[in-house]
Amino acid sequence: MSVHTNIKRVTTHTIQEMKMKGEKISMLTAYDFSMAKIVDEAGVDVILVGDSASNVMAGHETTLPITLDQMIYHASSVVRAVKRSLVVVDLPFGSYQGNSKEALSSAIRIMKESGAHAVKLEGGAEVKESIERILSAGIPVMGHLGLTPQSIYKFGTYTVRAKEEAEAAKLIHDGKLLDDTGCFAIVLEKIPAHLAQKVATAIDAPVIGIGAGNGVDGQVLVLHDMLGINKDFSPRFLRRYADLHTVMSDAVKNYIKDIKEVDFPNDKESY
Ligand code: KIV
Repeated sequence: MSVHTNIKRVTTHTIQEMKMKGEKISMLTAYDFSMAKIVDEAGVDVILVGDSASNVMAGHETTLPITLDQMIYHASSVVRAVKRSLVVVDLPFGSYQGNSKEALSSAIRIMKESGAHAVKLEGGAEVKESIERILSAGIPVMGHLGLTPQSIYKFGTYTVRAKEEAEAAKLIHDGKLLDDTGCFAIVLEKIPAHLAQKVATAIDAPVIGIGAGNGVDGQVLVLHDMLGINKDFSPRFLRRYADLHTVMSDAVKNYIKDIKEVDFPNDKESY
């Protein structure tokens, strides 16, 4: 039976209730109609149209080049496919860091032009004013702390963040601040598990981890990574649930072979 026969949409309140009940939250990225349809029908709670589209869809080295127009294109494709999951869209680099007015107008474009349900942005105290302004327009905001890929040139590497005491203290402070400001959930990326658990216990908003251990309220992975489409990326936190690279590559090789051997199309496949 498809989950769509009795559709009850996941909302920001649903995932907050899940935290209160101790039910873990599942989140995955998706960037196009076909993949989003599979992920939604499989029953994932939250679909993130991540700016990781810059890497896995467009082949850029970082998340920085993707534009607001491109994020809206991906998000509207996902929204057309989704009947149940909550759809959250990343505000891309350069669309909110300038000032809170710019942040609000970017968030409004995403909501209006894609039909998504919430936005996500990276950072703590430095984006507080922007979060407040977006929230004041009735747009739910998801925060993102720890390894924030839009700041990769500041960090210099994609290694684990907040291992030192000062950075860990700032992260706890920022987590509480995002919670108090009204973020409905917070992503914590690539930080020590004990620190992520500490933040999740200290705040009301659900904490969704990626490389942040098991003591948080939910987990997120990049779809292409967990499906094994991308073989070049193997961080310790990644569990591969399929080897689609091999499945797809074998299918393409068989197709080529059948053409070369004049086996495809056969009589039944012809008019
Ligand atoms: O863009 C993205 O996919 C993300 C997740 C890694 C949380 O922000």
